[in-house]
Amino acid sequence: MRTIRNLPLQGKKVLVRVDYNVPLKDGDITDDTRIRESLPTLEHCLKAGASLILCAHLGRPKGAVNPKYSLRPAAARLSELLKKPVAFANDCVGPEAKSKAAALKPGEILLLENLRFHPGEEKNDESFAKELASLAQIFIQDAFGAVHRAHASTSAVTQFLPAAAGFLLEKEISTLSRLLKGPARPFVAVLGGAKVSDKIKVIENLSKTADSVVIGGAMAYTFLKSQGISIGKSLVEDDKTDLAKEILSSKKNLMLPVDHRVAQKIEKGAQVQETKGPSIEPDWIGVDVGPKTSEKISAVLSGAKTILWNGPLGIFEIPGFAKGTTDCAASVADATAKGAFSVVGGGDSVAAVTQGGFAKSISHISTGGGASLEFLEGKVLPGVAALEGAVHV
Ligand code: 3PG
Repeated sequence: MRTIRNLPLQGKKVLVRVDYNVPLKDGDITDDTRIRESLPTLEHCLKAGASLILCAHLGRPKGAVNPKYSLRPAAARLSELLKKPVAFANDCVGPEAKSKAAALKPGEILLLENLRFHPGEEKNDESFAKELASLAQIFIQDAFGAVHRAHASTSAVTQFLPAAAGFLLEKEISTLSRLLKGPARPFVAVLGGAKVSDKIKVIENLSKTADSVVIGGAMAYTFLKSQGISIGKSLVEDDKTDLAKEILSSKKNLMLPVDHRVAQKIEKGAQVQETKGPSIEPDWIGVDVGPKTSEKISAVLSGAKTILWNGPLGIFEIPGFAKGTTDCAASVADATAKGAFSVVGGGDSVAAVTQGGFAKSISHISTGGGASLEFLEGKVLPGVAALEGAVHV
């Protein structure tokens, strides 16, 4: 992969695709990790005497302008982090973007409004990409979280500008590659989340390289049901039980929960009980893994040399149902302290390590949810492939 190192940046206008798809509450950014993680690339370019034009998406506004998804709060946060002004253009293409980009001097920064306010972005439209590219002389792709999308700012734009990867993209790809190629053993993958369909390919791919694959979250109920175990009123994908059965019979390194925390309602404050074994009574809903499962996970993780964790083990957003996920965060941190190389990806698992105060104890926290999963499925990411075919500097 061609990278930002050794690019002639002095006096150049550089278009950088960043992933500033950050969580917002009442207009305030509640987690600025993705903005912080873009700083090494931005600081490198500024130091080299470039001027920066940043482009990004926020949420899914579906090709229409929607103030709820404005990137303005990201400009303010970036300005605080860089300790310098960050200009903002109310549209990512058109006269305002053009004149503001043209006026930039070396060392200055402009953030463009949400790319997804234009339908051309998600359609990977060439003329939209060309307009975007016309603002700059070089393109840097650093939005690891978005490179699993073939959009104008991740794919078509590379037809019009010399392009290379930024430091964050480079770090994510090289770190995640360590899981697929020759990981130190034992390698344990913990996969949670609601749907088998979301994780099926990653389960299949990782069960080839990992020594153990722990399955938690609501998708575990589909696997348990496929074994004839009663799961009460728990979430299940009935159309996936045959597939789950097939996977369990062909892959011998999968671990399923041996007990659960259950409730009768999925709501804050609902009464929670622990089951004695893997089956769940008729009127109850599985909401989290149980204490015996957490102990088993902790035991397998404590012997691991490489760990991947993606996806919550229960309904993490409801405090009473978060224990299994929080315990897993602590176990991953403990194993890392003992020398394991750990990677955590996906919104809720990252939130669990951050909220538990374990973030600093994890070897690598990925900024990509979908992107890291697709990479671990073994897929070629369109935004990375586009850099390979891009115009040379
Ligand atoms: C993410 O949050 O995973 C990335 O920013 C991609 O967002 P998307 O799933 O809306 O394409």
